[in-house]
Amino acid sequence: MIPEIEIKRRRTFAIISHPDAGKTTLTEKLLLFGGAIHVAGAVKSNKIRKSATSDFMEIERQRGISVATSVMGFDYKGLKVNILDTPGHEDFAEDTYRTLSAVDSVIIVIDCAKGVESQTRKLMNVCRMRKTPVIVFINKLDRPGRDPFELLDEIERELKINVIPLSWPIGMGTTFKGVYNMYGGKLNLFFPVNKQTITQDVVEINDINSPELDKNIGDYSTALRDDLQLINGVYPHFEVKDYLMGKVAPVFFGSAINNFGVKELLECFLEIAPHPQNSTTATREVSPFENKLTGFIFKIHANMDPNHRDRIAFLKICSGVFERNTSYFHVTSGKWIKFSNPTAFMAEKKSTIDRAYPGDIVGLHDTGNFKISDTLTEGEDLQFKGIPSFSPEQFRYIENADPMKYKQLAKGIDQLMDEGVAQLFTLKSNGRRIIGTVGALQFDVIQFRLEHEYGAKCRYEVINLHKACWIESQSKEQLDDFRKRKFNSMALDKWGREVFLAESPYALQMAIEKFDKIQFHFTSEF
Ligand code: G4P
Repeated sequence: MIPEIEIKRRRTFAIISHPDAGKTTLTEKLLLFGGAIHVAGAVKSNKIRKSATSDFMEIERQRGISVATSVMGFDYKGLKVNILDTPGHEDFAEDTYRTLSAVDSVIIVIDCAKGVESQTRKLMNVCRMRKTPVIVFINKLDRPGRDPFELLDEIERELKINVIPLSWPIGMGTTFKGVYNMYGGKLNLFFPVNKQTITQDVVEINDINSPELDKNIGDYSTALRDDLQLINGVYPHFEVKDYLMGKVAPVFFGSAINNFGVKELLECFLEIAPHPQNSTTATREVSPFENKLTGFIFKIHANMDPNHRDRIAFLKICSGVFERNTSYFHVTSGKWIKFSNPTAFMAEKKSTIDRAYPGDIVGLHDTGNFKISDTLTEGEDLQFKGIPSFSPEQFRYIENADPMKYKQLAKGIDQLMDEGVAQLFTLKSNGRRIIGTVGALQFDVIQFRLEHEYGAKCRYEVINLHKACWIESQSKEQLDDFRKRKFNSMALDKWGREVFLAESPYALQMAIEKFDKIQFHFTSEF
C-alpha cells in the first residue's frame, strides 16, 4: 500500500521567468530557507550566460552543472519540496516546456521594471494549456520599477490570467520600505543590508488603521492605506480553489537578491500549492494514490564524457512506489528493466535511493533505451499525455560531412533527437533530413556533440521555413488532395507522423483557408 501521507506532503514545482528576471536568485533563496544550502551562491546556476550565446564549450560546461541542479529537493516543515530547474536560455525553451509536464504548479518571476516579457508569455501559454496553478513573484523592488497596479494590469492582459495581490509594495527603488503581506496581515520592513542571511524585520499589524503602521513607515502609511482600499475594491477575495483550477494567480512582491518577500512567498506557496495530481494518459486518468507504479521520462541528460556514452533519464513518478532493484515495464520496447542505482537529488547532492513516491523525480542510468515521453509501469500499456513537441522556429537541412561515418551520424542524430535536443523531419519527396529547433544555439550543440560524442561530422544547409504543423483530417479526399499539391512540403516526424512544412506565414494561411477540412496543429499532441 502506498502511504497517502507521502503523496500529500509533496510539492513539485518549477520556477520560470524570462532570462534575468531573477529565477536563479529566487531558487537559491528558497533553498536557503529550506535549509538545503547554507550560504547563498552554493548552487551554481545552470543558466547559460548571455555572453555565451555562441560559445558551445560553455554550454558543455553548463550542461555538467545542470545535471546536479535538475531537481532540487528539500524538506521544510514536514513537506517535501521538489524544485525542477528549467534552462535559463531562451533557445532551450523546449526543455522548459517538457519540465512543465512534470510539475504540479509553477512560480513565475517578473522583473518589476520590465514587466511581462516574451519568454514569460510563451511559458504561461503552456501553463494555461495544462491549467497549472501559478503564483507570480514580482522581483527587484529594490530597484526603480513600474507602478504595481500597472504591472498587475499588464499581467492580466498579457498572460491572460486573473491576478490577486497577496502582498503589496511600499515605495520602490531607493524609497522601497517593505511590503505589506495581506495574506498574513504583516508588515515586512526592508533593510538592504545583508544579502546572505534569512532574517528580516516583521511587524504584525492586525488593523491597517493602527498607529503602529505610521510609526514604522511614516508618511508612506497614507499611500499604503489608499492602495489597500483600492485593492479591496478592485480585486475579489482570494479563493484557493480558483488558484488550484488555474483561474487566478496570487501575486507577491519582493526582492530575491535581498531575501525579501521570499519567506512569505514560500510559506504561502507551501500552504496553497497542490500535492501531486492526476495525470492524463491516452486511455485513462492516473491517480497518484494508485498502488501500481507509473511514471514517464521528461528529460534525458547525456554524459559529457565521450568515453562513457551513458545518460541519465529523469523519471517523474505519477503513481505507486518506485523501488530499487525492481523490474518495471518499459512500454515502448516491451522490455522489463531493473534499476540498481536510481538517484534522487537533494539540492546539489545526488544519492542512491531505495524508494520514491509520486511527485518525486528519479534519475535512471540509461544506456540508450529511453527517449522523452517513454513510460514505465508494472505491466500496463500506458502513454502519458502532455509532453508534446512544439513547432520549431528554425530549420536547416542536415547533411553528412564525412562519408566514412554515416552510421555514427545516423546513431548520433537518433539519440540526440531521443534526448529532445531538436526535432527531425524527413522530407517525403526526397528523403532529405531537416533539423528543427527553437533557437539557433542547438545547431551548434548538435554539430559539436555529433563530433565529440559520436565521431561524426555534419554540415547544415539553409532552408527557408516558417513552421512545422502536424496535420489530420476526417476527409480522406481533402487530405489526399493536400498531400498531392503540397508534395514538396510534406515530411514525416520521428514517429512517422505527417507534418506540413510551411514556407511562410502566407503559405500557411493560404493552406488553412483553402483546406478547411484539415486541422493544422502547432504541437505534436492534439
Ligand atoms: P535568471 O535566472 O532569471 O536569468 O536571473 P538571475 O537570478 O540570474 O538574476 C539576473 C540578475 O538580476 C543577476 O544580476 C541578479 O543578481 C539580479 N537580481 C536578482 N534578483 C534581484 C533583486 O531582487 N534586485 C536586484 N537589484 N537585482 C536582482 P547579474 O549582475 O546579471 O548577475 P550576478 O553577477 O549578480 O550573478
